[in-house]
Amino acid sequence: MTEEVKEWWELTARWFQDDIDLDVGVNWTGMSADNDLRLLLDVAGKDVLELGCGGGQCSVALAERGANVTGIDLSTEQLAFARDLSDERDTDVAFRQGDVTDLGMFDDDSFDVAFNAYVFQWVEDLAACFREAHRVLRSGGRFVFSMPHPVYGLADPESHEIEESYFDTGRQVTPQDDLDVDMVTYRHSVADVHNALVGAGFRVERMLEPGSADPDDYEEGPWGEHRPELLAKLPSTLIFEGRAA
Ligand SMILES: C[S@@+](CC[C@H](N)C(=O)[O-])C[C@H]1O[C@@H](n2cnc3c(N)ncnc32)[C@H](O)[C@@H]1O
Repeated sequence: MTEEVKEWWELTARWFQDDIDLDVGVNWTGMSADNDLRLLLDVAGKDVLELGCGGGQCSVALAERGANVTGIDLSTEQLAFARDLSDERDTDVAFRQGDVTDLGMFDDDSFDVAFNAYVFQWVEDLAACFREAHRVLRSGGRFVFSMPHPVYGLADPESHEIEESYFDTGRQVTPQDDLDVDMVTYRHSVADVHNALVGAGFRVERMLEPGSADPDDYEEGPWGEHRPELLAKLPSTLIFEGRAA
């Protein structure tokens, strides 16, 4: 249900942006601007669509690399933050409000690249989104995205015991102490994401699971979600690189 996701983001966007204080850059792992992954560095002159642009940090970074960027997001509050950021950085990103599962506002074959970071855990119908991404991409266009790795959230952050089932996919409800709305996200298995991409007409060129076995390579996140000892054991981010066939 997109409405409940939108409601959560409208209520939390300002607080989220204050706490996370993301750098301008593509935050592929949700932890820092990971340009060292060397994804999407060659975008100058390309038409680029960010699916779920949030506060605009990624869209603005690609505009600064010379891309013609459009960012779409559900949340009025997130888009307001993104527009302010784009103005501050003197970039010209086209921000639009909408749902990534219905890109009807864009013509077929409009973009060379579609991408996002840490959005698809909020999206139930990935197959619809991927079909739309394929439609708006030109033939040979790239589709690159990162999402939480489905294994990372299965372990208890303190004991590292596996507490949840990988096979329990779909809607996950996390009650919020200080809010009237629950946080609703969706767990997608690796196979489901891969098969939805192939079903939508993408060729999967590469998958990445960035990380290292050394806890010293990590820092704590603002909400205790980044646990260095656990991050050194399990991948927290899954990245797909596909091409519209
Ligand atoms: C964690 S933020 C990530 C934003 C950005 N990629 C970043 O790195 O900051 C997730 C964003 O996805 C947006 N979102 C969630 N579901 C969406 C949907 N179905 N359509 C469009 N945007 C969506 C939310 O409004 C939120 O701004």
